[in-house]
Amino acid sequence: SDAELQEIYSFALDLGRRAGRILMDGVERRTGEASGRDEKRDVAGEEKMNAVDIVTQTDLDVEAFVLKEITERFPSHKFIGEETYSSGSSREYLITDEPTWCVDPLDGTVNYTHLFPMFCVSIAFILNGIPVVGIIYQPVLDTTYSALVGYGAWQDDGHHTKSRKSLPLVNNPKQVLPPNAPKGCIFSCEWGKDRRDTEGGNMWRKVNSFVNMAAEIGGRGGKGGMVHGVRSLGSATLDLAYVAAGSFDIWWEGGCWEWDVAAGICILREAGGLITTAHPPPNPETDPIEEVRLGSRLYLAIRPAGDSDTETGQQAQ
Ligand code: IPD
Repeated sequence: SDAELQEIYSFALDLGRRAGRILMDGVERRTGEASGRDEKRDVAGEEKMNAVDIVTQTDLDVEAFVLKEITERFPSHKFIGEETYSSGSSREYLITDEPTWCVDPLDGTVNYTHLFPMFCVSIAFILNGIPVVGIIYQPVLDTTYSALVGYGAWQDDGHHTKSRKSLPLVNNPKQVLPPNAPKGCIFSCEWGKDRRDTEGGNMWRKVNSFVNMAAEIGGRGGKGGMVHGVRSLGSATLDLAYVAAGSFDIWWEGGCWEWDVAAGICILREAGGLITTAHPPPNPETDPIEEVRLGSRLYLAIRPAGDSDTETGQQAQ
């Protein structure tokens, strides 16, 4: 029911912040003078797929904390967490129609080990395969991105914090590309963890796809269609938050898992942004726009139209 979803939203908001504090405790321990080099990196000694697919002790601690809190409060709900599921050899698509929590205790793990502040907690609640609550908490900046389906998306926390002003994220019609793209756009693309450098391999494909995508869009932009910048933050979750907030115009990645994107998808959709698997970006006049389903590996996100964009009506749907 609506009241239950509101309760889940408030619970998740609080949980995300408490989990974020555990991440910051880890940072403080590691930056303390007494800590040695390995402690500073906080790597739990385990590599998953390869040397960049790492797990920190903090990943494990935060996931255990979040799992415990959710199980105590909602014992009948299913739980999917990055560390619980990704250490096994089979990484199957696990989202069913049952009420399910999907959690990345620490997205941006490599950033975290290097003390680069682009890391966060990501918590989603999924019903019938659709993320209906999304919470992303970036503890270094003490910033929350959140959404409750049908109610909207917020930066900070909407109505819950008295001391900070909340910022509703724009909720304007979806659009295929920002007007005049790529002029003035910021693209973001992640490198992921598959570093095989073979034709058809992930790394090779990514570089090509990204360059081609930029060129495609560039072609449509015509003269003076200069992209403002290309970024790679190291956190797919924060990429989605920044697209939802309108700081990034386009984000692309070809290798994420449900826990990387579930919360961000909810926030982006509630903000009025678009997430699709299509590549290159669909043409609104000729292509049907397929909304992505969880379990895809390739994602392309486009920011919500801003007020001025919708006034001109350019390329807005
Ligand atoms: C990873 C990050 C990275 C992205 C990978 C993700 P993790 O998640 O979001 O930016 O490229 O696809 O798996 O391991 O830091 O939680």
